[in-house]
Amino acid sequence: MKVVDTIPRMSTLVKIFRKEGKSISLVPTMGYLHEGHASLIRAARKHTDVVVVSIFVNPVQFGPKEDFEKYPRDMKRDEALATTAGADIVFAPSAKDMYPDGYSTYVNVERLTDVLCGASRPGHFKGVATVVAKLFEIVRPEIAYFGQKDAQQAMVIKKMAADLNTGIEIKVLPIIRESDGLAMSSRNIYLSESERKDALVLHEALKKAEAMIKSGEREAKKIIRAMKELISAIPSAKADYISIVDITNLKGIKVLSGEVLVALAVFIGKTRLIDNILMKVEK
Ligand code: PAF
Repeated sequence: MKVVDTIPRMSTLVKIFRKEGKSISLVPTMGYLHEGHASLIRAARKHTDVVVVSIFVNPVQFGPKEDFEKYPRDMKRDEALATTAGADIVFAPSAKDMYPDGYSTYVNVERLTDVLCGASRPGHFKGVATVVAKLFEIVRPEIAYFGQKDAQQAMVIKKMAADLNTGIEIKVLPIIRESDGLAMSSRNIYLSESERKDALVLHEALKKAEAMIKSGEREAKKIIRAMKELISAIPSAKADYISIVDITNLKGIKVLSGEVLVALAVFIGKTRLIDNILMKVEK
């Protein structure tokens, strides 16, 4: 496994791979890798000759009051995990390399980014779409892998990749959970022991929604109310949003039918966690 830390070096390698007729996949990450990332790398390993894992804590997707500075970083641990999962290259450019002085080009995916996390984190998806578009240009993969935990991000990237005619296939793989149900996230490291227990309420609220839908409830308002009740019973928890949306456009729905996404963002103490479930609902 090779670590590549400049854009010119990465571009040179990509040219060599292309000349050799090798296919490339990209797993974009911000590092502090966990089993969720490993599942993406393992899938990529099965489908292309070369697997590139990018590690870049992207400053432009963090708001001024967010956790850019304290976002967990551990390159040595990441290199070991990426190697074990099957990566050939860890691409870890510097912020100066990605956004040199005078940088002024951004990618904005409209509409899909107005809701859910986009509403609470203005500018976040512009930062995500911009960095992913740049990574696509540098690495030029056939396939790129993302996790379903960031369901809205995956949709935004699919739209961006299609609208910009990148020709890149976007694969979105299931959420990987801890044994007690907590969705894996690099931010789980922020949780104290008691917050870690409290954080289970995200999954519990989703399980409650799933059970209600399975037993025939179709009114979004009632399901959201039941989820809210569970969350407000936990003193350290504060819901940012709880939404049930149409998976094709992320618009809120009143009566469930077809493919729906039940998504929530909840602060546990100061840590903002997200989670979701996708459900096929019969009328
Ligand atoms: O999901 C993430 O880790 C990031 O948002 C991504 C896609 C790597 C862009 O910085």
